[in-house]
Amino acid sequence: MEFRVSAPGKIVLYGEHAVVYGKTAVAASLDLRTTLEFKEIEDQIVGLSMPKVRLQVNIPNYVEKIGYTNLQQKLALEAFFYLLIAISQVEGLSVRPFRIAIDSALAISSGLGSSASFAVCIATCFLHLSNAQKNELSSLDANELEKISRFAFSCEKIMHGTPSGIDNSVCTYGSIIEFRRGETLEPILGAMQMRVLLVDTRVQRSTKAQVDKLEALKRRYPSIFGPVIEAIDNVSKEALEVIKTVRSLPGDGGEGLHSSYQQLMTLMEVNQGLLATCQTSHPSLDRICAEAKNYGLAAKLTGAGGGGYAYILLLPDTPTETITSISKKLIANGYLVTLTNLGGAGVELHTL
Ligand code: MEV
Repeated sequence: MEFRVSAPGKIVLYGEHAVVYGKTAVAASLDLRTTLEFKEIEDQIVGLSMPKVRLQVNIPNYVEKIGYTNLQQKLALEAFFYLLIAISQVEGLSVRPFRIAIDSALAISSGLGSSASFAVCIATCFLHLSNAQKNELSSLDANELEKISRFAFSCEKIMHGTPSGIDNSVCTYGSIIEFRRGETLEPILGAMQMRVLLVDTRVQRSTKAQVDKLEALKRRYPSIFGPVIEAIDNVSKEALEVIKTVRSLPGDGGEGLHSSYQQLMTLMEVNQGLLATCQTSHPSLDRICAEAKNYGLAAKLTGAGGGGYAYILLLPDTPTETITSISKKLIANGYLVTLTNLGGAGVELHTL
């Protein structure tokens, strides 16, 4: 048996952090993906290759203690074994020797959903195996996607403590989505094509630490941070209105499209300001926002903040020269820049 699974990364367009408190967020899949290759083998081992965390292990007996040298490797192994054991138990998967290689176009620990996209790939892999052992086809229908997202969510809890569930949802379903914790996820069907520049500050941070920091601030100053979180909720709702309205604009969108983008940019700046108030920005993120403004564009941190990534929204008519010029400037200042499209496919399974 041999197959390949892939799942996208994600960005939060509006509403990170507030989403942890049950508020609305808008997120989109990236066309940067994690891929997993599975192969059943004869040797009595489980082989695991994860170049992204520089991990290559052959495990003769996977309950034996495995060596790891850093936190990322530890988390990757914990996620892998959690999913292997959970899916074996819940779905009755029987484990035979195999080799798995997982790689990703996503930077890790940076807010692009690498851990969720990794968990979605592994969950899909083991669910597919379990289906195959029962002679059932994997259809990735609503029921299976729900299972995948749920397993990945449990895995996210091991890695991040109290995640909202937004990352595993976008990495499973793809598209641009409206998300509220505990509610049925709503993909925005027929949403506009959006292009962004992803800007990596190269400042590492932990999602859990950022979430815990805001939690402490909210506990200390509920009358200040309660309304700030409420305001972020309203920003997300306004942005959703704009994204949904664009769908009904005639033809090439014309003036209406231009005005919608201006509104989305304003809402990004307001959201960024509120996140900075929540102390989740970082000087490196603030500099990206200032640079984007110099070019008549808007930027905002995405994910937990404190470093990680920002995104710059490109307008449909932003000239290539502008994209090149701002990219060069950011790179010269030590940032990494990737031009990418939003809203592509969720998890995919390719049988070889
Ligand atoms: C999500 O990418 C970032 C946070 O909102 C945490 C979460 O929703 O789990 C900060």
